Amino acid sequence: MTVKTFAPAKINLSLHVTGQREDGYHLLDSLVVFVDLGDQIIAEPAKTASLSVTGPFAEGVPADESNLVMKAAALVEFPMAMTLDKHLPPASGIGGGSADAAATLRSAARLGAAPVSRCDALKLGADVPVCLGSKPVRMRGIGDHLEPVNLPPLHMVLVNPRVEVSTPEVFKRLAKKDNLEMPDLLPRWPDSLAFIDWLSTQRNDLERAAIDLVPEVAAALTALALAPGAQMVRMSGSGATCFALYDDRSKADAAAHQLAEGNPWWWVKSASTLPG
Ligand code: C5P
Repeated sequence: MTVKTFAPAKINLSLHVTGQREDGYHLLDSLVVFVDLGDQIIAEPAKTASLSVTGPFAEGVPADESNLVMKAAALVEFPMAMTLDKHLPPASGIGGGSADAAATLRSAARLGAAPVSRCDALKLGADVPVCLGSKPVRMRGIGDHLEPVNLPPLHMVLVNPRVEVSTPEVFKRLAKKDNLEMPDLLPRWPDSLAFIDWLSTQRNDLERAAIDLVPEVAAALTALALAPGAQMVRMSGSGATCFALYDDRSKADAAAHQLAEGNPWWWVKSASTLPG
């Protein structure tokens, strides 16, 4: 049997750094959603694990044991012949390798492997547990505390200026440890516009450090802010992908079209959130 498993892109709508652990990992408080854009894992049971990489972002993605997909199959001791169809830019702050690893774990479970615990998934990377659920959550700790949240539907434009960003480098450049947590009780929002209004008062604490490292992030944020109809712009994860939110998909589609025409080298896509 062959299974196809979608690995949706992860968007950090907000990302507050609330502290640092003794081992160097940072404590986060982040609202995370998943969208209708992503990679795909095609898998079938096999005697030994193997991987081939296809798709528009296949170039440069390793197909050996260093790929998180192979590490995920090894973690559950469930060898599969796998194809990773790569549609998301690598090292771009929207899940990528973590989403692929989580989709591999889901593929293995669908094919009969024992389901993996959140704690084991965390061994593959801090973002793997959140990607395993692929539902809107408030994520705390280093990515191990996940609380489902009810969010209105959101539409967005994603822009990646085609520069890879090293997550450890961004965390290393954090000038100070912010200690401003998000409110303990998230407000309830009557509609998408009220939610976006509230969200604009939140932050991504990694934005400054990412811009210092990769100035193109600032260019992406500016271009998104100048496109018609954008309600709010921000960077996702450790960058370099940035997003603008819209209350309507057709507005997002129109803005994406305009941004792609003006910046032919950039990766520009419109997307909508997946429901909880
Ligand atoms: O867990 P993952 O491999 O995705 O993290 C990559 C690096 O990013 C870590 O080695 C660490 O330097 C940094 N990081 C962090 N705090 C987090 C997540 C990642 O400092 N919550």
